[in-house]
Amino acid sequence: MKILVIGATGTIGSAVYNTLKEQYNEVYGAHRNSVSYPIDITHKSSIEGLFKNLPKLDAVINTAGTAVWKSFSELSEQDYYTGIHSKLMGQINLVHIAQEYLNDNASITLTTGILAEHYEPNTTALSFINGAIHSFINTASNELKRGIRLNAVAPGAIAGDFPNNQKFAGHFPVTIQDVVACYKQLLINKSTGTIYKKY
Ligand SMILES: NC(=O)c1ccc[n+]([C@@H]2O[C@H](COP(=O)([O-])OP(=O)(O)OC[C@H]3O[C@@H](n4cnc5c(N)ncnc54)[C@H](OP(=O)(O)O)[C@@H]3O)[C@@H](O)[C@H]2O)c1
Repeated sequence: MKILVIGATGTIGSAVYNTLKEQYNEVYGAHRNSVSYPIDITHKSSIEGLFKNLPKLDAVINTAGTAVWKSFSELSEQDYYTGIHSKLMGQINLVHIAQEYLNDNASITLTTGILAEHYEPNTTALSFINGAIHSFINTASNELKRGIRLNAVAPGAIAGDFPNNQKFAGHFPVTIQDVVACYKQLLINKSTGTIYKKY
C-alpha cells in the first residue's frame, strides 16, 4: 500500500508516520518544511505539486492544520479566517485534489478533534472548524467516486502534549498509541463517512 502522511513531523503525524513505516513499504511523510516532500495545505498549488511528484496512492492521512487559540472576546474576524484557510479549507482542498490522484478504493483520513463537541476555554475559533469538517465528511463521503473513502479521526488531548491527570474539554488525555490505532483502523476497514472519536 502506498500511503501519504501529511504533518509527518507533528505530535500525531510523526507517530502515525513512524508506525505505518514499520508495516508498509511505501509511506511518504510530508509537511510544510520538508525537504523531500514539502506541502502547504493552505495553497492548492502546493497540494497539487506534491501529488504530481508522487506515484498514485492508496491512502492519504492528513494531520496538518492550525487555528487560533484565544478567548471569545479577543477573537477578530481574521482569527477565524486563520483556521478556515488552514485546518478547514486546507483539508477540504486536499480532498478535492487528492481524489484526482488516488487509486480506486483509496482512503482519505482527515483530523478533527474533541473540540467539535466538548467545551474548552479559548477554543471557539478551532472548535467550529472541527464541527464543519464533520459536516463536510457526512456529505462529501457519499459523493466521492471510484470507491474512494473519506473519514476523520477526532482525538482528545494527546497525553504528553497535555498533563495526564488534567481534563481537557471534560476528558482525560488519550494515549498516542490509541489515536494511531484509529488511523490504522480507518486505513484497512471499508468504512466511509466515519468520524472516529477517541476521547
Ligand atoms: N496534539 C493534540 O493533543 C491534538 C488533540 C486533538 C486534535 N489535534 C489536532 O490534530 C492535528 C495535528 O495536531 P498536532 O498536535 O500533531 O500538530 P503539530 O504537532 O503542531 O504538528 C503539525 C504538523 O503539521 C505540519 N503543518 C502545519 N501546518 C501545515 C500546513 N499549512 N501545510 C502542511 N503541513 C503543515 C507541521 O509541519 P512543519 O513543522 O513543517 O510546519 C507538522 O508536521 C491538528 O489539527 C490538531 O488540532 C491535536
